[in-house]
Order: sequence, then C-alpha cells, then structure tokens
Amino acid sequence: MSQPHKLCMIPGPIEFHEDVLDAMSTPATSHVDPLFVPIFGECIELLRKVLLTKDAQPFIVAGSGTLGWDMMVNLVERDDEVLVLNTGYFGDKFAECLEVYGAKVTHLRAPIGDRPSLDELKKALSAKKYKMVTVTHVDTSTGVLSDVKGVAETVKSISPETLVVVDGVCSVGSEEIRFDEWKLDAVITASQKALGVPPGLCIVAVSQQALQVFKTRKTPVAGYYSNWNKWLPIMTAYEARKPAYFATPAVQLIYALLASLKQLTAQSMDTRFDQHRQVSQKFKKAVTDLGLKQLAVSDEVAANGMTAIWLPEGVQVSDIVPSLAAKGVQIAGGLHAECATKYFRIGHMGISVTEPQRGHIDKVIESLTTTLKEVKSKA
Ligand SMILES: Cc1ncc(COP(=O)(O)O)c(C=O)c1O
Repeated sequence: MSQPHKLCMIPGPIEFHEDVLDAMSTPATSHVDPLFVPIFGECIELLRKVLLTKDAQPFIVAGSGTLGWDMMVNLVERDDEVLVLNTGYFGDKFAECLEVYGAKVTHLRAPIGDRPSLDELKKALSAKKYKMVTVTHVDTSTGVLSDVKGVAETVKSISPETLVVVDGVCSVGSEEIRFDEWKLDAVITASQKALGVPPGLCIVAVSQQALQVFKTRKTPVAGYYSNWNKWLPIMTAYEARKPAYFATPAVQLIYALLASLKQLTAQSMDTRFDQHRQVSQKFKKAVTDLGLKQLAVSDEVAANGMTAIWLPEGVQVSDIVPSLAAKGVQIAGGLHAECATKYFRIGHMGISVTEPQRGHIDKVIESLTTTLKEVKSKA
C-alpha cells in the first residue's frame, strides 16, 4: 500500500496504484533506448484495446487533456462549422479552443444537469452542414453523461462525412466507449483520470476516416507541437519498435502508462464498465439516502465515474471540502460558472472502484455522512 496520504477523490487526478507509481522510478532512460521503445509501442497497442478499436491511430504526447483539444486543429480549417454539444464548463472551453483556430462554433446547450436531446441534434444537423460535432462524454463540471453512441449514430445517419469528436478526458476507462462499433472519429483523453496515471500525458485516438480528412486538408495545420504531420511518423515508428524523435516523450509517465494499461486490459472492458456502473449506483444511493440531490437530472444522464452534488440549503463549499480533507478525503468544489459555489464533486474511478478492498468509497461515504451531521449540529 502507498504511504499514508489524503485520499484524492476528486474527479481526477485519481488514486494511483503502487505498481503504476513504482513503474515511474526508472533510472534516467533515453527516449530512444532499445529498452524504452517497445514500452511506448505496447502502450499504443493497448490503448486500442481500451478503446475497442482495431485501426484507430493513437497519439500519446506529453501534455494534458487540453492539448487534445488543440490537436483538433489538425481536422479543423479556418471557417469550418463545428457543432459543440455543450453540457457544461468543458464544452465552453473546448469551443473556445476551436475558435482560436478559426472554427465557427455553434453551441447546442442543455440546462445545467441535462444534455441536448437527439431530436435537438437532428434539428441542428438539418439546419446546417457541420465539419465536426464535438461531445463531452462526461462534463466534469456537472457530472453529466452524454449519449455518445446515440450522438454518433444520429450524426452518421444524417451526415456521414461529419466528424464525431469525443472529449473523453473524464470517461476513457470508466464509461463505455466502443470506438469502432460507434463509428467515432476522435477520442481525446488524458492520463490522470480513469487511466490511473499521474498527470502529464495527452492521449488522442483518431479514425482512419478522420486521418484521411487530415491528409487531404487544403491549408497547413496552424499548430507546431500539436501537428500530426510531426507526430504520426513518431507513433508509427514506436509501434514498429523503431526509435524516432520529434519532441521528448515523458519517458517515466510512459512506463507508468504501460503498467496501468496492463492492469486495465487484464480483464474485459465490459467488466470494467460494469464495475464503474455498480460502484456509481452504490455511491449515488448513499448520496440520495443522505438527502442530497445530484446536478444530473436523471440516472440516465449521470456519469459513472463521478458525482456532482448540490449543497444542502445554507451550507457552503467551505463547510464541506475542508471538513472532509480533515478526515483524510480530498473532494472538489463546483466548477460550472453559473453555480460553482452551490455544489461539490466526488470522483469514483480506477482503483477506488476496481479494488474495493482498499475501502476508498466506504471512507468517502462515511466521511461525508459525519461531515453533514457536524454541519447540521452547528446550524
Ligand atoms: C472533460 C474534460 N475535458 C478536458 C479537460 C482538460 O484536461 P486537462 O486538465 O488534463 O488539461 C478536463 C479536465 O479536467 C476535463 O474534465
């Protein structure tokens, strides 16, 4: 077990397995060392297993999830129309990023705690031709789960050329994603959430159809570090177990990623999705039993890897978060601009879910229960 510490139960970074942390303690290793190259190559292959895809192209690049948004500059050209299915803060920010590159963004928004319906999506798609539709799988600001399967089906049936891009930063490894079956074009994620690796890796997987769009674009890519012309040969080389260099990879994080991906793929993805669903239901029931309400307006739209919870009347974030921290549990305050001070967020992903013997979830429920009693007794 790792050294005693406050449990990190925010919606990412999450708790890391000891073997994942140990894997980072390598001596200094060259990024073109024959020992390291196959480690990188295997990560690329295992990511396909996690995303349930045969031929999507993974990119693993030092950076955070935000770099994945920037990478969409490879698919978007100035004045391209993009539809953003917006379920919170991260939809706003993804759109802001795309606008930097000249995309013309239309938002399809839902009220806080809900997601746009497929009928609204159909209407939007018949009103205008979009180069890309983006969907935040789990908006970490609201804990709202999008229906990525339904979105992709709807988009591809009305406009097969439109690219479906999923922000999976808070979903890859905790929510069901079937890249090939659902005909997705890009999934963006990062190391620090359900993949269970410290922050510092941006991971993007891209369909062959999307790569074709990238290869036949009319204008040069308006990015340097994010440019797939630079990264594609590097990913291909590592996968072929050949050394290559564009920009130095985060060597130790790649070792950690391999350790985590091996654990993750030791069981079927279906089992992992089920584990997250079950623990989420247990956690949400405990929240409801405490008399608390979630931001998500129904079970159907509630994420399985996190829960966003309204504060009881008269209770502040500052009454709850520091009190849980004092009990050894770090949780997060709100993030949505319109209501940040009115709710808090708790993550339940990765080893906290798959290794119940660690007691993380029980400890969070216990601490939250005690804190609420303490707050009430003071009121
Ligand atoms: C849904 C979502 N998208 C994008 C990001 C940005 O990722 P990062 O903070 O790793 O840059 C986050 C971060 O929490 C997120 O939750």
